Amino acid sequence: MPRTIIEPFRIKSVEPIHWTTRVERERFLRTASYNLFQLSGEDVLIDLLTDSGTGAMSTQQWAAMMEGDESYAGSRSFDQFRASVQDIFGYKHVIPTHQGRAAERILFSVMCKKGDFVLNNTHFDTTRANVEFAGAEAIDLVVPEGHQPGLKHPFKGNMDVEALETWIQNVGRDRIPLVMLTITNNSGGGQPVSMGNVKAVSAVCQKHAIPLYFDACRFAENSYFIKLREPGYEKKSPKEIAQEMFSYGDGCTMSAKKDGMANIGGFLCANNDALAQQEKNLLILTEGYPTYGGLAGRDLEAIAVGIQEALHEDYLQYRIASTAYLGNHISDHGVPIVQPPGGHAVYIDARSFLPHIPPERFPGVALANELYLEGGIRSVEIGTLMFGKSALMDLVRLAIPRRVYTQSHIDYVVEIILDVFNKREQIQGLHLTYEAPFLRHFTARLEPSEVVTSPVR
Ligand SMILES: Cc1ncc(COP(=O)(O)O)c(C=O)c1O
Repeated sequence: MPRTIIEPFRIKSVEPIHWTTRVERERFLRTASYNLFQLSGEDVLIDLLTDSGTGAMSTQQWAAMMEGDESYAGSRSFDQFRASVQDIFGYKHVIPTHQGRAAERILFSVMCKKGDFVLNNTHFDTTRANVEFAGAEAIDLVVPEGHQPGLKHPFKGNMDVEALETWIQNVGRDRIPLVMLTITNNSGGGQPVSMGNVKAVSAVCQKHAIPLYFDACRFAENSYFIKLREPGYEKKSPKEIAQEMFSYGDGCTMSAKKDGMANIGGFLCANNDALAQQEKNLLILTEGYPTYGGLAGRDLEAIAVGIQEALHEDYLQYRIASTAYLGNHISDHGVPIVQPPGGHAVYIDARSFLPHIPPERFPGVALANELYLEGGIRSVEIGTLMFGKSALMDLVRLAIPRRVYTQSHIDYVVEIILDVFNKREQIQGLHLTYEAPFLRHFTARLEPSEVVTSPVR
C-alpha cells in the first residue's frame, strides 16, 4: 500500500484563500475581542474552527440538489431523504430539522422535565445546553481513559457502563428519561465508541426500560474506527457497521453538517409513535412542516446523498489517515495531543502545552489565538471558556472540514504549530471582560492578562 495520502477526488471548483500579515492579524484579533468566533472568515487563511457545515459537496450532491422538490407538503425530496436515512439508521420516524441542535431541543423538550438526568458519554456543548434548558441535568459518564489525554486506547469515547448502572440505581430510572451515546465523542477528543460498548450500554438501558439515543453526528467515522480497531468487524463495510450500531438504539439526533456531508441540516429519529407525534407537533411550531423541517427540498436531497457518501470506504480511509497525519506529526515533535488522533479533529492539550497558564486564564484560548497570530489558522478552545469550572481538560481543537483542504495545507498547519510550540513560554493567558449566561464561548470578550499568574516552568 503506498504511504502517500492522496485525496480520493479531483477538484472541480476552487475558492481563493487570503494571506494576511501578522500586524493585520494582531489588529483583527483585538477587534474580535480576542475571541476567534468574532473574526471575519475572510481574515482566516486555514479555517479549522469546525468541521460542521464546512465540507465540500460532491458532483452527485450538487446534481441531486437540482432535483429538489420544493413542495411545502409531501415533497418528493423528503421521500428520498427518509429512504436514505432509514436505509442506514433503521428508525421508524425521520424528522428533518435545520441542524442538530434543533433536533436536540425538540427531543429534550418532549422527553425531559425538571429534576431529570440525561446520561451521556460526553455531552456536546449544545446538547448540554439544551438538556439544561429543558430543566434536566446533563451527566457525563465517559470511561476513565477518556480523561487522560496522553493515553492511547482504541475506544476512549466509551461510556463507563458500571457508572451508568450506579447512576440508575442511585437516582432511579424514573428520573432518567433517556441515555445518550455521542459517536464519536466530540468534546472528549473525537474518540470513538466500540460496538461492544454500544451493546453493553444498550443492554443496561433495556434492563431498566430506558430509551437509548445516539448523538450520531460522526456516525460514519465511528463506524470506520470500529472496522479498523474492533476484532470481528474487519470484513464488514462501514455501512453494515453503522446499521448494526443503530439497531441497538431507539432513536438519534443528527447534525447533517458533519457526516451528512451537507452545509446545513439535521434530523431526529425515533421508533416510538407517541413521542414522534409530539416531536412533529413541536417541529411545526418552530421548524416547519414535517416533510421539510426548516430545510429546502434541495437540502434534503444533498443530505440523502451525503450520508451514503460519508460511508464510502476510500473516503473514510483518506479522512482518518489525513487527520492522523496531522496529529502524529506534531506529536512526534513533542506537542501534547489527545491520543490517538480523533476522526474529524486533532486536539492539542493546552494545559500541558502552556503549563504556566492556569485554567482560569484560559490556556486553550491563549493557544488558539497564538496559532491565528502566527499563521492565520483558526481553531477552537474546548475547555474552561466553553464549559466553565466543569471543564476537566483545556483542549484546542483543529477540526478538519471534509474534502476541503489538501495535504499541503495540512503540512502548513504542522509547520505553524511547531513554530508556536518553540516559543510557547512567551504566550500569555487572558481574562474575560464579558460573558453571556449560556454558551458564553461564542460571544465572550477577553483581554490578555498583563501578568503571568503562576511561574513559568
Ligand atoms: C457531537 C455534536 N452534537 C451536536 C452538535 C450540534 O449540531 P449543530 O451544530 O448542527 O446544531 C454538534 C455540532 O458540532 C456536535 O459535534
